[in-house]
Amino acid sequence: MNVDNKIESLKASLEEALATVENQNELQQLKATYLGKKSELTQLMRHMKDLSNEEKPAFGQKINEAKQAFEALIDAQKVIIQKREMDALLKKETIDVTLDAPDFSPGSAHLLNQIIEDIEDLFIGMGYQIKEGPEIETDLMNFEKLNLPKDHPARDMQDSLYITEDTLLRTHTSPVQVRTMLEYGGKKPVKIICPGKVYRRDDDDATHSHQFMQIEGLVVDKETTMSDLKGTLLVVAKHLFGPDRKIRFRPDYFPFTEPSVEVDVTCANCDGVGCSICKQTGYIEILGAGMVNDKVLKMSGYDPNIYQGFAFGIGVERLAMLKYGIEDIRHFYTNDLRFNKQFKR
Ligand code: PHE
Repeated sequence: MNVDNKIESLKASLEEALATVENQNELQQLKATYLGKKSELTQLMRHMKDLSNEEKPAFGQKINEAKQAFEALIDAQKVIIQKREMDALLKKETIDVTLDAPDFSPGSAHLLNQIIEDIEDLFIGMGYQIKEGPEIETDLMNFEKLNLPKDHPARDMQDSLYITEDTLLRTHTSPVQVRTMLEYGGKKPVKIICPGKVYRRDDDDATHSHQFMQIEGLVVDKETTMSDLKGTLLVVAKHLFGPDRKIRFRPDYFPFTEPSVEVDVTCANCDGVGCSICKQTGYIEILGAGMVNDKVLKMSGYDPNIYQGFAFGIGVERLAMLKYGIEDIRHFYTNDLRFNKQFKR
């Protein structure tokens, strides 16, 4: 048998087989068939022993060259298959960026949070710290230490949601002020605002909500006076309602402050002349405040002969309603996007 012919015909059939190979597996099998131990090419080597010593090297070289040629053919096909497989994979995983994306608009901070952040920034600028506390409070922190003992009639001012006999959902953020005074141990001056959620047992309607947001403030130092309170609240009123606003104090009652005041701001709509928004009074009530009651200072470790302070409590929803003419407090909590989107920053 002529070796050259044999190799040629093997090569031809290998080429033919390679052309139909579809994947790596089939290629592996083909490689075994044409180059493995039992392959015809390997079998050819057996004829060596029948050859003379002069013929052997040339024969061996032919077989080796054939081997290399076959390997080269198989490797070339391997590259083709790999590329084909990769192309198929890429095609399968392609994302069609030309497809229409569903319409979506990014969210933004809720109006209440915007107002809280705005007021926080204002107070940070005046050297205040922001303090937060638990929404589930003890009766002790929410009432007792604020001069509201168990049978005090003023407890009715804040209808409460009790969890146990001694724990309730806080009715104001004043307990955060108590906690801060206790934390400072009656020694350091206090200058804080306490924003957060509060809860009252109220039937929800246009002006009442069983849950709302408050920002309360407390300043305790050796020389803190009522004029400091008035100056501070005037800054707040001007910041929120415009530089021309004026404020006035009216006497009021809170168990934790003495004296206590209700704070009014001149109506931004009529500039204090009188209109339907301010019910012809020229003023709109915005918050409650007062000088911290001596008893409250004492119960939280501050000596009222050395320290005195002021406190105020702002209802955030009420402010927002006044500022933007919102007629129903429930708008803040029903999350109607037509409402929320009007206040995108
Ligand atoms: N804690 C009072 C309330 O929630 C608000 C307030 C705070 C009033 C501080 C006066 C001084 O009703």
